[in-house]
Amino acid sequence: MQKRLLVLAAGILQVPVIKKAKDMGIFVIAADGNQNAEGLKYADKAIVVNITSEEEVLKVAREERIDGVIHPCSEVAMNVMGRLNDELGLSGITREQAIRATNKHLMREAFEKGGAPSPKSVLTKGVEDAWKQFQKLDGDGILKPSRNSGSRGIAKVIKSGRDEGNTNKENFCRLYDVALNESRDKSVLLEQFIEGPEFSIEIIVWNGKVNVLTVTDKKTTGAPHFVELGHNQPSCFSAEEVETLKAAAVAGVKALGVNNCACHAEAKLMDGKAYLMEIGARLGGDFISTELTHLSTGIDMVAAAIDVALGSEPDLSIKEEPKGVCIRYFCPRPGKLVNISNTEILNDAHVYLWEIYHKAGDEIPEVTSSLSRSGHVIVTEESPQKAIALAEKIINEVKFETV
Ligand SMILES: Nc1ncnc2c1ncn2[C@@H]1O[C@H](COP(=O)(O)OP(=O)(O)O)[C@@H](O)[C@H]1O
Ligand SMILES: [Mg+2]
Repeated sequence: MQKRLLVLAAGILQVPVIKKAKDMGIFVIAADGNQNAEGLKYADKAIVVNITSEEEVLKVAREERIDGVIHPCSEVAMNVMGRLNDELGLSGITREQAIRATNKHLMREAFEKGGAPSPKSVLTKGVEDAWKQFQKLDGDGILKPSRNSGSRGIAKVIKSGRDEGNTNKENFCRLYDVALNESRDKSVLLEQFIEGPEFSIEIIVWNGKVNVLTVTDKKTTGAPHFVELGHNQPSCFSAEEVETLKAAAVAGVKALGVNNCACHAEAKLMDGKAYLMEIGARLGGDFISTELTHLSTGIDMVAAAIDVALGSEPDLSIKEEPKGVCIRYFCPRPGKLVNISNTEILNDAHVYLWEIYHKAGDEIPEVTSSLSRSGHVIVTEESPQKAIALAEKIINEVKFETV
C-alpha cells in the first residue's frame, strides 16, 4: 500500500522534502495557505488551507487518510502537526511537545529542568520589569519575542560603560517594543547574552535514540539583529568543541522529551562551554537540513525525517561522498536596485545551487531578519574551508548596484 504523507507548508524551503517524498514512492499531499506556493506543484495533491488552523487541517488529514505528517523548515504549524499526531495516533511529536519546542520560555524551563546547558532567561512582565531585570543581569542581555523565528524582533542590550556603547532606557524601551510587536504571544524574554561563535546541530530522533548527524558553523551579522549570513559543514572547530556541542544538543533534545522527529538545535560556545539557543523539533531552515547535511555527511536527512514521520526506521547510512559545503547569503547595500552584474561567476562547477530574490527596480531592505536577505549560493568543495572561501568570493563579486 502506498503511504500517504501530509506536508504542512509548501514554500521554497519545503520543495526538497516534497520532491524527496515523491522519489521515495510516497503519495504526497502538500498544504499551504498560499495557492501560488512553489511546492504545491510538485505534490500528488495540492491543498490550499490555513495550515495554522488545527480544525481545518485535521479535517484534511482525516479526509486524506494520511499515514504521517511533516512540517519541515518552519514553525508556524508545529502545534497543528502535534495535534494531528495525537488525534490520529501518528508517529512524531505530541501537541504538548510542539508547544514546548516553539515557545522559547517553556523551552528554557524544560532545558533547566532537564539539566541541559542554557543561558539565564526571564519572562518579563512588561517593559519596566524588563528594565529592572536588565539592571540585575550580570553582563549584557538580549531581548527576544517568546514566540517567533528567523531572528525577528531580537536585539542585544548592552550595559553602560562598554565600548560598543550602552543601551540607555529610551533605546531599551524601543527595542522591547520591537520584540513585543514581533511576538506571537505578546511576551518578551530577557536573556543573559552568550558571547561566542554559533552553531547548529542536526539530529534524527528515532525510538528514543538521539542520532547526531552533523555540526554546522554559522556566520551571523552579530549585534544588534543576529541575522544568519551563512553556514558551513562540517564544522571547522576542534573535535573537542564539536563533541561539547553534540552533548549539549543531545541533552536538550532529551530535556524537551521529543521523539520520532528531526531536530535542529542551535548553540553557542563561550569559554569552552556550550549554551543552547533553541531546538526546533523539525528539519532546520536555511537549506541546512535539506541540502547542506546530505552534501557534507552523505546521509539523506530528508528521507530519514520523512521515514520517522511515517513511523518507519530511518536509514542513516552514508549514501553519497561527503564534501565540504557552504551557503552564503547576498545582503547588498539597502536602496533601490538598479542593476545586478557579474553573475557569470555563479556558473562555477562548485556552485551547487543559487538564487537571487530581487530584480532591478526592487527595493533592497536593511537586513534585520532572515526575510530581508537578497539571495543565496551553495558551494561544495573538498574541505569546508575551501567551500567558505569560494562562497565568500562569489558573494563579494556578484555586484548589486543600489542607489
Ligand atoms: N542568550 C543569547 N545569547 C547570545 N545570543 C543569543 C541569545 N539568544 C539568541 N541569540 C542570538 O539571536 C539569534 C536568534 O535567536 P533564537 O532564539 O534562535 O531566535 P529565532 O527563533 O528568531 O531564531 C541566535 O541565533 C543568536 O545569534
Ligand atoms: Mg534560532
